Parts: sequence; C-alpha cells; structure tokens
Amino acid sequence: MEETERIEEYLEMIYRMELKGERATTVSLSETLKVSPSSVTEMLQKLAEKEYLEYASYKGVKLTKDGREIGRKILERHRLIEEFLKFINIDQRKIHELACKIEHVIDDDVFNGISDLLYRYRENGNLNLLSELAEGENAYVVTVHGDDRLVKKLINIGFMIKTPVKVKRSLVNRGPMIVSVKGNDIAIDEDIARFIVVRKE
Ligand code: FE2
Repeated sequence: MEETERIEEYLEMIYRMELKGERATTVSLSETLKVSPSSVTEMLQKLAEKEYLEYASYKGVKLTKDGREIGRKILERHRLIEEFLKFINIDQRKIHELACKIEHVIDDDVFNGISDLLYRYRENGNLNLLSELAEGENAYVVTVHGDDRLVKKLINIGFMIKTPVKVKRSLVNRGPMIVSVKGNDIAIDEDIARFIVVRKE
C-alpha cells in the first residue's frame, strides 16, 4: 500500500471512530487496522506533523479540520463503492476489502459518475434526473447528491426532499433550465440539475 493510501486509511478509521463518539488511541487503531502499536505510533506522529491531527499518546488523537475533511471524503467514497459493488452482485465477503482499495484511487468525477448511475438505475428506472425533464413536466425531489457543499446549496435554494418542481424551460434550449420551486422560478445549470434526482408525477 502506498503512503498516501495508508494516510487516508488512518484518517478514515479515526473519522469513523469520531462519528461513534470514540477517541482513537494507539491501541484501538492497532486492533482495527491490524498493525503493530509501534507502526501506529510512527504513523500518528507523521500525521501530526502534516497537521492532520493532534496527538498526545496518553489521551489519543483529535483530527484537525484538514484531517477530518479527508477522513469524511474517504468514508463517503467507501460507502458509495460498497453500494456499487453490491449493485453489481459482488460477493458480500469481498466487498469491504475491495471498497477499501478502490476508495483511494477514484476522483470526484468517478465518484459523481457512480453516484449518478446508482440513482438512475435504482427503482427500476422510475427516477429521473432533473436535467432530463422536458418543459412543462411536473416532478418532485427524491434526493440530491454530490458533495456536501452542493447538497447544502441545493437544499438552501429549496430543493428539499419531496418538494414539487415544475420545469418552465428545459435544457433543450441553450442556457440554464428554469424550474419553479415553491412559487419561485430558479435558473439551474445542467451540471447542477444532474445532481437532483426526481420522480415524475
Ligand atoms: Fe477504507
């Protein structure tokens, strides 16, 4: 395993522990990652030098903002890849380990592509992306995906789950689509509209 992958693997695991309200220690990391306590200590020192975490051997580690961001991202990829591997019927016993390898090599484009694919095929193709709707069509929001920042932004402008939407201008025309959401007409570019999953009425 390459150095960057090992770093990501540690940050993912520490982040998982933080989510459970646990503080990672040399002992707990050595057990879960199946490496010797001395290599854990060595790695934690390295991660502290890179400012991904604060490390005091007696009280465990605490992720910094940068460290937490990497941990969160890798975990998010891990979950998506597991879902994808299940979707293509990969043996359950291989899924976790495979996801742990793939999560380090995909970038945001691949992440979004897989995410897209899963939503499109789920529920026997009963779902559409907002970007695919034609003028005059009504639908409601099933989910929004993409990175955290985008999801927050979309929710802020009104694309909450179950919200009805009506397409006033589709992407067949040049320029953004115009969608009516809760009485407001909102202009949305294609690269954003394809992150909004809807069900037609
Ligand atoms: Fe992993």
